[in-house]
Amino acid sequence: MEFTFDSFKDRANSKTLSKWEKIGFPDGYRKGVEFAIFEDISFKTQLATAGSVLDIGCGCSELVEYIISFSQNSKQQLYLVDSLEMLSNIDAKCLNGKIHLVPGKFPDKEVLMKLAEASFDVIIVYSVIQYAFISQSVFGFIHECIKLLKPGGHLLIGDIPNYQARERFLDSEKGREFLSKAPQVDNTINLQHENFERIDDSVIISLLFRFRNFGCETYLLPQPEALPFSNRREDILIIKR
Ligand SMILES: C[S@@+](CC[C@H](N)C(=O)[O-])C[C@H]1O[C@@H](n2cnc3c(N)ncnc32)[C@H](O)[C@@H]1O
Repeated sequence: MEFTFDSFKDRANSKTLSKWEKIGFPDGYRKGVEFAIFEDISFKTQLATAGSVLDIGCGCSELVEYIISFSQNSKQQLYLVDSLEMLSNIDAKCLNGKIHLVPGKFPDKEVLMKLAEASFDVIIVYSVIQYAFISQSVFGFIHECIKLLKPGGHLLIGDIPNYQARERFLDSEKGREFLSKAPQVDNTINLQHENFERIDDSVIISLLFRFRNFGCETYLLPQPEALPFSNRREDILIIKR
């Protein structure tokens, strides 16, 4: 069974889990590579040119700390959405008047109400959409994001686990070599998920098609090799016309 918004709350409250375990990753997957992830997100979203940024499902690891510190240095307005439990892990010393914490589940009414006055140059949804896929409408989730985007704004639906991309990789020579070095890691992932709970090529392609009908350009992008899931995850970039 996948994690849910509520089970992430329990992890966020834990006194024993590391900051990466709280957001659902073994330390070995994220520790030491989150700056590379931040750089990839910055490049794909043109973060340096943004005046206002929304990070939905921001988590509590170093990735959101990099996003906060970049925003502070660039004097951006930054809105962070996640459960109150997850947001409570963010060091209050990092926060200032331009950084707004919005506790709750996106796109629940109370969250949308707190975002009602805002619009964004960049929206980041990184390693999150798979949870909306299981328990919410993934189309509804993205439509609400697009409503919050300014014209020309960039929405990155990043780090999407597409199980068919993963299978293609594992069937390749490089994939077999990868499995021989870390069999237990990938078996753990395998046991946690049923196929009906997972995103596949049909979902990815339908998202790309769907939002072209709603005033957007959509792009499927690979991840740089330095990123921990580059061999089996991909990103969707949506730019509002
Ligand atoms: C795998 S973690 C990713 C955290 C962060 N984006 C990163 O990549 O480091 C998923 C996060 O999304 C949050 N989340 C899941 N569904 C959400 C929703 N519908 N609205 C807001 N946050 C959500 C969880 O609480 C968790 O913190």
